[in-house]
Amino acid sequence: MSAWFDIQSSSGSYSVEIAGGAFRAWTAGFAQAAVLSDAFFRPLLADMRVEATFLEAVETNKSLEATPAFIEGMRRRGVTRGSQLVAIGGGITQDVSAFIASVYMRGLRWTYVPTTVLAMVDSCIGGKSSINVGAYKNLVGTFHPPERVLIDPEFVKTLPADQQASGLIEAVKICFCRGAESFETHMSYGPAVHMPLPQLEGLIVNSLRAKKWFIEIDEFDKKERLLLNFGHTFGHAIEGASHFAIAHGIGVGLGIECAIAFQQMRGVDYAKAPHVAQLSEHLRAMVRTDPSVAATLRTLDLADVMERFVSDKKHGQDFYALILIERDGTVTLQKLPRTSETLRLVEAAVQRVIGEFA
Ligand SMILES: NC(=O)c1ccc[n+]([C@@H]2O[C@H](COP(=O)([O-])OP(=O)(O)OC[C@H]3O[C@@H](n4cnc5c(N)ncnc54)[C@H](O)[C@@H]3O)[C@@H](O)[C@H]2O)c1
Repeated sequence: MSAWFDIQSSSGSYSVEIAGGAFRAWTAGFAQAAVLSDAFFRPLLADMRVEATFLEAVETNKSLEATPAFIEGMRRRGVTRGSQLVAIGGGITQDVSAFIASVYMRGLRWTYVPTTVLAMVDSCIGGKSSINVGAYKNLVGTFHPPERVLIDPEFVKTLPADQQASGLIEAVKICFCRGAESFETHMSYGPAVHMPLPQLEGLIVNSLRAKKWFIEIDEFDKKERLLLNFGHTFGHAIEGASHFAIAHGIGVGLGIECAIAFQQMRGVDYAKAPHVAQLSEHLRAMVRTDPSVAATLRTLDLADVMERFVSDKKHGQDFYALILIERDGTVTLQKLPRTSETLRLVEAAVQRVIGEFA
């Protein structure tokens, strides 16, 4: 099975191709390109005789401080405005490459080969780059979509279980935000770590089709696309307070659980939205695939989580911006008063979820 579709963006349309086992054939087209790859693939690329610059996929390399070394390296190797950049790796490699591609000599064409579930189902489309500055995650960034996205689901075979779960959580989040049909299709593939590759391929296509709707209707995060931050305000706070011991997607899963708990504490009853219980049950299973989460949560400093929640960049001066599930199961952005009562409920919801998983 293989699939192919286009994404429309203000800088032109770009293509997404999904084909199991196609990576080796694709590398034939990389001969003239500057390849920037996750260091994990050094042996594979050496075996395929693909020359590349390697980066360790760690958050400190996805930073404003680390990018000059990569940029200087490209300049030394003679990369020019006409060159093509090829990025191979997960979201960290993507963010670094997209950022460099958008600023190097005022912009390079680039191709992206995502290698994690998260990058395949979510981040590979949408055109965003996000770069850390000092202690601040994703503080600066650009919009600069790749020209081509080439997805070979076989890369997932070597991906650790917690990383797979992390990506599957992002996928279910996108599909749930898109609506009941997309969510049901997602669940019909039996999302689970180490799932069969043909089902994973279908799941990737479904997730990207759902995300395509959001990014084409609202490319620059003004309205509909903001919903894809579902679970992120709570999730980033938990992920940050764990000093990134909790993977991003797992943090988002815990964040969605917090958003559900928060609504229930405000008296929202989901009896008429059975998908919410199904989502919650699935998230619990996904989060629990990472055996280290419980121990990390037991050491989490609640005050630190709350501090990070309060300083989230999406809040306004007099409101907390939260993506929440309504009584009927639809996902909406709500602006809640910046009061101690709202914070009390936020803290109670976080405490409940930490208690359940710790
Ligand atoms: N730009 C966007 O739109 C966007 C969206 C979501 C997340 N992100 C960012 O993405 C980052 C997380 O990315 P991620 O979860 O895709 O992974 P990652 O790039 O952080 O990689 C995670 C780990 O998996 C390894 N790895 C990658 N592919 C592998 C494979 N096939 N087999 C074995 N190991 C492999 C890496 O070496 C690394 O150790 C975060 O920094 C997040 O902020 C960006």
